[in-house]
Amino acid sequence: MATIFSFRCLCFIIALLSAFSFVSFLFWFQCSSSYRYSNQMISQKENQPINLLSFPSAWNHLSFPSKLPSKYLKIALFVKKWPHRSLAGGLERHALTLHLALAKRGHELHIFTTSPSNSSFPRYPMSNLYFHLSKPTAAGYLDQAIVWKQFQTQNSTGKAFDIVHTESVGLLHTRSRNLTNLAVTWHGIAYETIHTDIIQELLRNPDEQQAYALTERITKVVEEVRFFPHYAHHVATSDHAGDILRRIYMIPEERVHVILNGVDEEIFKPDPSKGEAFKQKFGVAKSRSLVLGMAGRLVKDKGHPLMFEALKQMLVENGTFRENTIVLIAGDGPWGDRYRDLGTNTLVLGPLEQAQLASFYNAIDIFVNPTLRAQGLDHTLLEAMLSGKSVMSTRVASITGSVIVSTEIGYTFSPMVVSLKNALYRVWEDGRRVLEMKGQASRQRGLQLFTATKMAAAYERLFLCISNDNSKREDYCQYQSPFN
Ligand SMILES: *[C@@H]1O[C@H](CO)[C@@H](O)[C@H](O)[C@H]1NC(C)=O
Ligand SMILES: *[C@@H]1O[C@H](CO)[C@@H](O)[C@H](O)[C@H]1NC(C)=O
Ligand SMILES: *[C@@H]1O[C@H](CO)[C@@H](O)[C@H](O)[C@H]1NC(C)=O
Ligand SMILES: *[C@@H]1O[C@H](CO)[C@@H](O)[C@H](O)[C@H]1NC(C)=O
Repeated sequence: MATIFSFRCLCFIIALLSAFSFVSFLFWFQCSSSYRYSNQMISQKENQPINLLSFPSAWNHLSFPSKLPSKYLKIALFVKKWPHRSLAGGLERHALTLHLALAKRGHELHIFTTSPSNSSFPRYPMSNLYFHLSKPTAAGYLDQAIVWKQFQTQNSTGKAFDIVHTESVGLLHTRSRNLTNLAVTWHGIAYETIHTDIIQELLRNPDEQQAYALTERITKVVEEVRFFPHYAHHVATSDHAGDILRRIYMIPEERVHVILNGVDEEIFKPDPSKGEAFKQKFGVAKSRSLVLGMAGRLVKDKGHPLMFEALKQMLVENGTFRENTIVLIAGDGPWGDRYRDLGTNTLVLGPLEQAQLASFYNAIDIFVNPTLRAQGLDHTLLEAMLSGKSVMSTRVASITGSVIVSTEIGYTFSPMVVSLKNALYRVWEDGRRVLEMKGQASRQRGLQLFTATKMAAAYERLFLCISNDNSKREDYCQYQSPFN
């Protein structure tokens, strides 16, 4: 089994080089399923270790050993806000999931964040996890002068920090510029947001004012291209963002690393009995042969005007669709009441705690994410996939490039009512059995790439690599496939 990795990698690179995603997916799929046979014939010497820092695709594809690290790191994290459990946006969810996992693995974590307005702060039973709170600025950001002082105090107490991690601009570039052992994780960069701006403008009612963003965005991109190099290492949360950072932002490739988001695989997993109980609890009739699910904030940004319009039209024009489908909606926001007005075909559940959310995913046949945001990588899709559900989402590059990479997993549509309706009708025609098969493919991809364990292992290795102690001849930046 010496050359699994190199051959697989070759497949992947050829697939990347070949024009468009579906064709390349087919190639990648066929090619990688044949590697098992071919690799026995390729000679041993091709199995060179690779330099992780210049690895072009997501580190989630690699396998890092799960045994505890041979070296424990002292890690500083800068994050604007530390979330109260599960009710949090993408960046905060990422901060929480990743750093709790790293603390569980024994690293010493110092988290520099703002104190919450109502003064209650979550407690964790871990003695290697420290919070350094400070009052936010008027605009709600970290007060850079204060956190820098707190950081330096900790840096000169006991051991110095091995690694500094900042979630987005938690630590500003004016402070980060001289730190070589630093990584920043971007959850949406201005260049990606241009796509969102275009979508919003196309969907804008003539009586609404044009968003200021449309004209200002390019200036924002140029600003980012200028200041991003002041961060030593960059983590992109999607393959697409990684490409932009290398190509448009011109950051040297050995400083750009792709690590896709992960979600807790212990919580989000298939459990049909939980799904049945959930449906019973909320009175979903057995006659509903298609249960669609949506979760998150019910706001314009997340595409709810689009979904609302598509559903409204379909419920009017197609009697069978009306009789047999139901949409379960977890979350709240301005569009909640409008969905309620659609009558018995929708069930607005309000925000759900994590355990309930896990049951919710089990209750549905397919998860629909009509988001208009092209930046970052939505966690809800990953949760649905780990729960073994087929997924459906807007065609934005982070999703089509890293998540719904083929029709084997689910459906994608353009952010227009007609395209969304077509996709929903296709789902309806395909029916439950096809959705179940796609759900299994979804789960396989989820397990391979989107578990919290995978994400934490990749970050741990990146942090070890960045803080390599050359005097001890450490080589955490070398990767050797474990299948030797
Ligand atoms: C403080 O606020 C958070 C969210 O902002 C909330 O979840 C938490 O329950 C609040 N705590 C108290 C004691 O009010
Ligand atoms: C942290 O401490 C180390 C060791 O004393 C020192 O070399 C480094 O410059 C300090 N970092 C900062 C940002 O002050
Ligand atoms: C970074 O280093 C430069 C040159 O040594 C120095 O002038 C500057 O003040 C440093 N910046 C920070 C934030 O430490
Ligand atoms: C409803 O949609 C389905 C799926 O596209 C189609 O097969 C069916 O004929 C439609 N029914 C009506 C009444 O339009």
